[in-house]
Parts: sequence; structure tokens; C-alpha cells
Amino acid sequence: MTEFHALRVAEVRRETAEAVSVRFEVPQDLEKVFAFEAGQYLTVKTMIEGEEVRRCYSICAAPPEAELRIAVKALRGGRFSTFANQRLREGDVLEVMPAAGHFTAPGGAGAYVAFAAGSGITPVFSLMKTALMKDAQSRFTLFYGNRRSAEILFLEELAALKNRYMDRVEIFHFLSQEQEDMEFFNGRLDDLKCREILARLVDVAAAKMFFVCGPEGMMLAAEEALLAAGVAADKIRVERFVAAAMSPAQLESAMEAVREAAGRRMGVVLDGRRSTVVFDAALGNILDSVRAAGMPAPFACKGGVCATCRARLLEGEVDMKVNYGLTPDEVARKYILTCQSTPRGEGVVITYDV
Ligand code: FES
Repeated sequence: MTEFHALRVAEVRRETAEAVSVRFEVPQDLEKVFAFEAGQYLTVKTMIEGEEVRRCYSICAAPPEAELRIAVKALRGGRFSTFANQRLREGDVLEVMPAAGHFTAPGGAGAYVAFAAGSGITPVFSLMKTALMKDAQSRFTLFYGNRRSAEILFLEELAALKNRYMDRVEIFHFLSQEQEDMEFFNGRLDDLKCREILARLVDVAAAKMFFVCGPEGMMLAAEEALLAAGVAADKIRVERFVAAAMSPAQLESAMEAVREAAGRRMGVVLDGRRSTVVFDAALGNILDSVRAAGMPAPFACKGGVCATCRARLLEGEVDMKVNYGLTPDEVARKYILTCQSTPRGEGVVITYDV
């Protein structure tokens, strides 16, 4: 089962005024446990002012670099991100879960294209380095949006990558609050800009895979532009750090499902033990009902993004509010995100032992 391990912080490196990267020391006996694929993330857990905080952060290192490093951008009001940027020091110990996530490359040589904005560069940077280091035939084109040049994460490392793999890398920076000489590179990566980029700068048919990571609006714009340019949906990989807001109608129907499910009994298998858990509508989801019953079901984001809380449905049906964490294949194999699920009737049985 997914579990946390105590890892010592080996380095906290300032990347920009608002972001640090954190390198963990991985003891030899945990090296296999913490092996990762480019594009994956780690879940970290710690106590901040007496409260347990869990967050997911993408790994910015590439597997060939043999280090485990995440990037953490300070968000206004963000508890862990502020803590990491202001107080975390070398030698501190954090609880860390092994790498997870599906924002990975299919493997093999090819031409890869990525749209990233802000800290959305983090997993893309890992994918980019990995593709270039591992395969001399791979190419990588990056379209990277930021507000100002001072906020560009990994600016120097990206430039170094460009120097090192000159003929296989293209990097285009777009700034929304700073004027560049060429008008085309001013502004956000919105729908129009993404369409222009694809028309002018990308051989769409030749690309093996497209990666998209950044704020919701930019991701929707890039995804729509890619689909409009004729890219097949299975060639587009999107990574969300937070779930998109639900519409009022979606929210109301989700709340209705929760109210109706009050008191339903569910069979829950965890660590080889089966127990009966009653769905508590006040808690609002299966995960919290399971944990309130004393079973230590794993979780991280509680927002339908990280898939740490996933379980498999053995019997019955559930309603899932949002799902950004499971692949269509996993959904077809009856995996559910328990932090987003409500039992649709009596007789639901789930297992976390997957
Ligand atoms: S805890 Fe992250 S998807 Fe449920």
C-alpha cells in the first residue's frame, strides 16, 4: 500500500523570489521505493503549527540525474508552500510518499511538444531533460508562459539545456506583463495564441506527444487548440495541480447525491481486513467516512487530482464528483477516487488493497 517514509531534506535551493526546489536524501534501502518516472509527483506531509498538512509537488529532476527534487512555488495563503519557501532547511525531515502520477512520456524517441505556464514547468522540465538525455533522436519544443522574466522557473537550466542539445531543443518564452521586442511573444498562452503557435511553429503531425501543464485557463486553451489542430486526444497529456471549479448545477447534483447516500453501509477492504463502514453525509465522501471509522485510508489532495485515495469498486456503484487523477483505462477497470465518491445504493464494496 502507498505509505509515507521519513526523508531528510538534503538541500533547499532558491530558484526564483517565489520558488524553491527541495532535494531529498534517499537512503539506499529506499532507492527502489523512490524510483520515479519523469513527470510524476511526490506527496509530502508535515505538521505546521500543530496541524497536519499534505501536498503534492511535481518532481523537477529527471531519472538519469539520480536525485529526488521537487519544486515548490509560494502561493498566497499556501500553508506548505509558504513554509517551504520561508522556513524549510537542510536537515529537516518530511514525510514523503513514493512517486505517483500519469503525466509521463510513452517512451522511445520522438518529437515532443509542451505548453507550460508558471510552476507548470516543473513536471515538463523533468520530461524534457529525460527525453533529451535518454534518446539522441528525441526532440523537445517548449512554449512557456510567465508574467515576468524574473518569475521564470529554471530559466538558466533551460538555457543550458538549449546550449547542450542545440539542434534538438526549441524554447519559446511568452511574457504577459513585460514587453518583448517581438509582439508574438507578448501576452498569455490563451486560445488564440495557442492556435497561432500550432499553426506557425509546430509540425503537428510529426509530434509524438503533447504535454500541457499550468493554470486551468491556459490548459483548456492549449487542449482546445490542439484538438482543433487535429491532434488525437490520446496524444495530449494534461497535468492538473488543482481541480477546476464545479458549476453551481454540478455542485447541487453532487450535494444531492451525498444527502441521498446518508447512512448507506459499505464493505471496505484495507490491509487485508474487511469492515463495514456507514456513509456519513456530513463528511461528504467515502474516504472521510472510512477514515472516521478508524481505517487509515491514504489521501493527499482531497481534490480529485492526485489519485492517492484510489480504491477499486468490487460491488455496487458510486457517483464520482470529479476525476482528474484516474486514466480512462483505470475507470474502465472500476477504480474510483474515494475522496470524490458517494455510494449510489446499498451493497457498495471497495478495496484499497490494489
Ligand atoms: S486524495 Fe487526491 S484524488 Fe483523492
